[in-house]
Amino acid sequence: MGNRISSSYNKCVPKPKQDNSMLLIKSEVERQKSLNFYISNLWESSFSSKIDKELEKGGKVILDVGCGAGSWLLEVAKMYPNNQYFGVDVVPIFPKDNLPGNIHFITGNVLNGLPFSCEMFDFVHQRFMVRNFNTRHWKMAVKELTRVAKLGAYIELMEMDLITYSQGPITKKLFESFLAAMHARGISPIIKELLKRTLIYNKSLENIDIKSINSPLKQWDGIKVF
Ligand SMILES: C[S@@+](CC[C@H](N)C(=O)[O-])C[C@H]1O[C@@H](n2cnc3c(N)ncnc32)[C@H](O)[C@@H]1O
Repeated sequence: MGNRISSSYNKCVPKPKQDNSMLLIKSEVERQKSLNFYISNLWESSFSSKIDKELEKGGKVILDVGCGAGSWLLEVAKMYPNNQYFGVDVVPIFPKDNLPGNIHFITGNVLNGLPFSCEMFDFVHQRFMVRNFNTRHWKMAVKELTRVAKLGAYIELMEMDLITYSQGPITKKLFESFLAAMHARGISPIIKELLKRTLIYNKSLENIDIKSINSPLKQWDGIKVF
């Protein structure tokens, strides 16, 4: 009897909602770590700017904007430990505990102004913001990255064009919906040309260098990815 009552009681009381936010953050952190590993292998380096010798010497200050889980910053800090590293993201999913003294993560929005004074960094890096910024945002972000960069500093942006080749029917359908959603938000999926125009438009920048690489999503010409 007791069991029956208890059973019917359970049916009436809504179960406490499961908090999935930690699980989502965990899987996003893992996704970013895998992507960082993949990109570093694809390019055979963590960055393209010719600053490796200076980073090796030490005493430089490096900023990663939209750092996410901090995978890129932590990787570079491990390779070149004698520098100061700052990561900024609008959503604080970066690590907070047990960090080496030269690594600092801060919550901030590049579109509202970064929490740093002018000309503070020797190397400013920003990656994978294509889904977040429209044309106006890109101009604002590049202006802000330039403001915090020292004269002669390197600013490196890395983005993916959101296009795929040789699509199957499901990928085609998926991408059509995805691109329609991007379009509705004024976001260009073909980022390379937009970035080039934005960088040229910013008259403080010089020696603009653009490198591209095609990346396989799955099995591609005998190369297996994941
Ligand atoms: C696709 S993730 C890339 C994370 C990281 N850069 C990487 O390569 O692993 C984009 C990140 O940019 C952050 N972000 C988006 N808009 C931002 C803004 N206006 N200011 C700072 N961070 C931003 C998001 O919170 C997210 O963590």
